[in-house]
Amino acid sequence: MAGQDIQDSATAAAAPELKRTLGPWQLTAVGIGAIIGAGIFVITGKAAAEYAGPAVTISFIVAGFGCLFAGLCYAELAAMIPQSGSAYTYAYAAFGRFAAWIIGWDLLLEYGMSAGAVSVGWSGYLGSVMAKLGMPFPEALSKAPVAFDSGGHFVLTGAIVNLPAVAIVAFLTAFLVVGVRASASANGFMVLVKIVVVLLVIIFGLPLINQANLVPFVPENTGTFGEFGWSGVLRAAGVVFFAYIGFDAVSAAAQEARNPQRDLPIGILGSLAICTVLYILMSLTMVGLAPYPTLNVENPVTIAIQAAGPQLHWLEWIVDVGAVAGLTTVILVSLYGQTRIFYSMARDGMLPPIFAAVHPTYNTPARGTILVGIFAAFLGGVFPIDILGELVSIGTLLAFVLVCLGVIVLRVQRPDVPRPFKTPFSPVTPILGVVVCGAMMYGLPGDTWIRLGVWFGIGILIFALYGIRHAKQPAWTLWDDAPTK
Ligand code: ALA
Repeated sequence: MAGQDIQDSATAAAAPELKRTLGPWQLTAVGIGAIIGAGIFVITGKAAAEYAGPAVTISFIVAGFGCLFAGLCYAELAAMIPQSGSAYTYAYAAFGRFAAWIIGWDLLLEYGMSAGAVSVGWSGYLGSVMAKLGMPFPEALSKAPVAFDSGGHFVLTGAIVNLPAVAIVAFLTAFLVVGVRASASANGFMVLVKIVVVLLVIIFGLPLINQANLVPFVPENTGTFGEFGWSGVLRAAGVVFFAYIGFDAVSAAAQEARNPQRDLPIGILGSLAICTVLYILMSLTMVGLAPYPTLNVENPVTIAIQAAGPQLHWLEWIVDVGAVAGLTTVILVSLYGQTRIFYSMARDGMLPPIFAAVHPTYNTPARGTILVGIFAAFLGGVFPIDILGELVSIGTLLAFVLVCLGVIVLRVQRPDVPRPFKTPFSPVTPILGVVVCGAMMYGLPGDTWIRLGVWFGIGILIFALYGIRHAKQPAWTLWDDAPTK
């Protein structure tokens, strides 16, 4: 989805053979480029402050295991079905049309909504930069106008709109409309920036941590499920799971991989492994430098560094600027991924043809891209990151559960289809994926479940009113008798 893969979706989807230029390192970079973003830079702070305390580090380990199991399943399907479209395509293969619709609709959370969520994180770090320059943004124009109080009630914050979040989405949407793509070298550079920033925080922050901040490591539960204690660790795992989202972007680059069968699994698992190690160390550094209740802010990494005292002043700028730059690519790849998934779905008749209509000059699905941009900009302009992030997490966890189940189903239904990469210890690994990802879903707040239910209610309605009547035999075939109903 990133780097060389950022090209116009129309060509990507229509051309039977894209240029196969990506090797294992580039694919790993594609993954890292899509993974490291607002999750570690923003959401970790709230997860520590409200749910897990210093044990947010354990939450990262739990979420990492969930991703590992799901990643091994993704790797089997990605190598077996090297078609772009990601989980949408796999669901079509394993379960048929309705499940494909459900997953496609669900992926709108993983990509479209996550673009909105990351734009809010982007706005927070840009605000930090502007404040340092002596030009702070007015609150009314840089915060979410709506929020939900602790009782889950809708409240108005007094702000008007998060304008920087809207602006960055609009800007990147315009890029995608005219077919500008991030070159492989631009993506590689951004990946490097992100890794260097994270490594600097770890290398210079870890030796300065104050042990007192880490005691007690698992703060006592308040009496409410999910508020500290082990249930808090589980809830925080579901919340910080957001930070891992993106490794499946590697599977979306299937058609551009030089040797997909060998390199997709390497890219998926390699990017996941690198990010897991970085996240565990980075979160430990953050909760070690600053008392965890102080991290519930828009720019918790900066706050953690400030808590270390004057020695790390030099790093603040690097973190703020690095976060702004690094989060930009995540928004870009999320928007891009969304347009590609909608393109595939519209081509299969699941969505109105506007999403597959190609602009004559730019040769991109321009109108579909603009609609996706409006959706993401609206979310980023109006909602706070925690509401969006948790909904993205629960939706993506559901997609992962279905991918794990897909491996089990296809092993039974289609044992004959060649599998260049096989999920080891199947069905144990897929079952563990279902259990760990399912547990993280279970740990997320009830309000998030209600929002997910509403989301699917709308999705099923659209399917009933549109998709069921217009869906046609997909243009692609995976194998002769793949399910189409
Ligand atoms: N994993 C991505 C992020 O943290 C979505 O921003």
